Formats: sequence, C-alpha cells, structure tokens
Amino acid sequence: MTITKGKKAKLTLDGQELDLDVVVGSEGEHGIDISKLRAKTGYITLDEGYGNTGSCTSDITFINGEEGILRYRGYRIEDLCEQSSFTEACYLLLHDRLPSSEQMKTFSRLLNQHSLLHEDMRHLFSAFPHDAHPMNILGTMVNAMSSFYPNVDSLSMRESIDLTAARLISKIRTIACYAHKKNTGDPIVYPQKDYNYCENFLNMMFWSPVNNYELKPDRVRALNTLLILHADHEQNCSTSTVRLVGSSQANLYASISAGISALWGPLHGGANQAVLDMLNAIQTEGGDIQRFIDRAKDKTDNFRLSGFGHRVYKNYDPRATILKKMCMNILEEEAAQQPLLDIALRLEAAVLKDEYFVSRKLYPNVDFYSGLVYMALGFPTNMFTVLFTIGRLPGWIAHWKEMVQAPAKIGRPRQIYTGKQEQQYIKIEDRG
Ligand code: CMC
Repeated sequence: MTITKGKKAKLTLDGQELDLDVVVGSEGEHGIDISKLRAKTGYITLDEGYGNTGSCTSDITFINGEEGILRYRGYRIEDLCEQSSFTEACYLLLHDRLPSSEQMKTFSRLLNQHSLLHEDMRHLFSAFPHDAHPMNILGTMVNAMSSFYPNVDSLSMRESIDLTAARLISKIRTIACYAHKKNTGDPIVYPQKDYNYCENFLNMMFWSPVNNYELKPDRVRALNTLLILHADHEQNCSTSTVRLVGSSQANLYASISAGISALWGPLHGGANQAVLDMLNAIQTEGGDIQRFIDRAKDKTDNFRLSGFGHRVYKNYDPRATILKKMCMNILEEEAAQQPLLDIALRLEAAVLKDEYFVSRKLYPNVDFYSGLVYMALGFPTNMFTVLFTIGRLPGWIAHWKEMVQAPAKIGRPRQIYTGKQEQQYIKIEDRG
C-alpha cells in the first residue's frame, strides 16, 4: 500500500524548477519520487551504499531503526517469537496473513513432502572437499536445484510459487545438514515425516548411529525463535541481491543462490561467525576487551567489532534484545560457555559507555548474541551463517514473489563515470 499525497518537493537546478512527488508509506515514512529526474533534467542522484535510496515500495516488513521496531506483515517480532513458529512465520511472510489451522496443516504437509533431496543431487556432495565451507555448498546446491526442478523461470513461477517456496524452505534445511555431515564425515540422516521443521533440523544435524540424539522441547523452541528472528529484514544486502537478480527474470533458485553469496560476507550474515571468532580471540589473548575496542576505534586498523552497528538501527536492535535474554537463559546450563558469555557481556557494557560507539549510535546487532546460542545448541561455528540463511529464506522468497507479481522493471542503477576521457587506440608495436 503506497500513498502519494498531494505534497511536492521542489528542486531548483540550472534555473529550472521541478516539482517532485512525495510518496508516503503506511507508517508515515516519506520518500521523494525521482524516477523522472534524469528524463527531465539530465541529472541522476548519487548515493553510494544506497543509504538514502528506496529501491522499491514493499508491504512485507516494517523497521523503525530509531525506535528499534521490527514487524513482519504488521506483527511485532516480539509477539511472533513468543507465540509463533518458524513455519507459521514463513506462511505469514509468503501470504500476508496468519494461516488458519487447515492452511497450517496443508503447509506443514507440503514441507514434509518436499524435505528429501533428489538422490542424484545427493551425489553432488561427494564432489566437494571434506572441509568445504557449508555456505559454499548451500549456495551451489540451491543453484543446482534449477536443474533438478526445472521450469522455474519467473513468469511460469507465478502459478507454482507456493510449491517452489515449500520445496526450497524444506530442502535447504536438508542440504544444510548434509553439508555438515560432509564436513564431519558422518553418515547423512534423512528427514522424518513425523517431525516438525525444527525437530527434523536438529535430528538431521545431530543424530548419528552412535549418538541417539534426544530432542529437547526448549532447544526446539530456541531454534524456532532464532529462525523467526532472521526471517526478514526488508531491503538488506542479500534481499536486495535476490530482488536485483530476480528482476532480470532469472529463476527463483538462481536468485536465492545469489542472495546466499551476499549473506556470506562478514559485514552481513557472516558476522555471527566473526563474533564467535572474535570472542574466542579475546579469551585466548587473556580477556583484555579494551585492546579490541581500541583496535576497532583505530582508523589505521581495518578491524571492526563484529556484532556492533547497523545501517538501519540507530538504537538497540530489537532482535539482539530477544537474543540476549535467550542467551542468558540457555547458557545457564552450559558451564563451558560461561566465559565467552562473560566476555560478550563485558564487551557490550564497555562499548555502550564508550564515546566512539555512543556518538556513532553503534549498538549490538542480531549477530552479537546469536552465535553463542547456536553454540549452546551444538552447532559448529561454520554453520552459523547457514542458520541465518535458512531463517532469511522465507523473506527472500516473499520479496521475490512481491517483485515478480508487480509490474517490475529490471534493476539497473546508473553511475557517475570518473575514468579517462576518450583515448586514441595505439597499435601494440607502436606503444612505448
Ligand atoms: N566497529 C567499529 N566501528 C564501527 C563499527 C564497528 N562494528 N560499525 C561502524 N563503525 C564506525 C565506522 O567506522 C564509521 O565511523 P566514521 O564515521 O568515523 O567513519 C561509522 O561507525 C559508521 O559506519 P559505517 O560503516 O558508515 O556504517 P554502515 O551503515 O555503512 O555499516 C555495518 C553498517 C553493519 C556494515 C557496520 O556497522 C559494521 O561493519 N559492523 C560490523 C559487522 C556486523 O556486525 N555486521 C552485521 C550487521 S547486522 C546483520 C545483518 O544485516 O547482516
């Protein structure tokens, strides 16, 4: 729902005055519509990193970064984490409404029916080195799904989007667990039809013929909460990537695979692994948090405190608030991880008092505490970003669906060229 009120912005350029429409969103956000700017003036806007650029209008997720608000389809993240499940959150994001009991049953059945991988696809895992990063395996396998489940170009997808969404959401979890077993060398565990989404996930990850993994309800609940927290975050780097790739009418699998690559970077989803590496490094070096803070503030050093700062949140990330609480509860029983939690709490307390971080409004983000919870659940660090990916998948699909169902244009930014002006070509034998 986009509202364009009568309000106009005035732009004066080269003596010419231009009226630009002001677009107002349903939560009162304002944007200036510059889509005709170049045609009318010859100018474009320049916004490196897109900090001030709205690339689309969207009905999916609302964030107020100043006040620390996050809502999916109008529902508060706090309420969803407390009362919903990941599969229900998937349905909500994909369909713009909470499901009835019947719709929920049908969706769960669909997820169960599509949890297995084509056996030929399973063989692809053997081509990877045993220590391949699971994010690499995940991106490759999702891309390969376009070969195993063909005819998914964006136009024909409009009818089969629900089926393809269920297939992706279900199979990505199976792929993730197979990737982990590839790393450990243990036999893979097939999904079971009597388990729900998160139970199946934990069982496929941790069951082995010599370790009869026991499913504990609090762990299953924790995993649900973690995945809900990551399920969407409007136009972040990976979601924008999915939309941009999809805007060329590339198929959904290819678009999602590109999103996985974008998410892998340490400034984005890869930060959760980087946080754990950083906390471990602080511990190994004797627990001196101040040395790491000083490095992060030093402009001659590239080091940043992973898990702090956010493009949109200039307040405490609401996801970090939920995760911190969860982390304290779950780590109560995990004596071995107490020292890392203690370092994290001391680091956060010191950062929140430090003028450098305070003046730049740098608070803990979703990645700061999530890794500690993943670790308490038994996940190795190289699986942390994979968990973020699985959580974010319904959001990516919802955005892709929203884009292909609207009369979308191909995404194609412009640039201000700053290179050489026209050069004369010199034959190779005449060059000095
Ligand atoms: N440690 C030290 N300084 C920082 C940090 C940090 N973690 N984050 C930002 N700054 C400084 C930055 O150096 C800059 O200082 P100055 O104004 O003196 O140049 C200022 O704060 C603004 O930073 P920015 O890089 O212009 O902000 P951005 O909006 O472009 O970047 C960010 C956002 C998340 C990439 C950045 O805060 C960062 O690198 N954080 C660490 C990585 C991280 O935790 N990423 C996960 C993000 S949340 C989950 C997700 O969306 O994937």
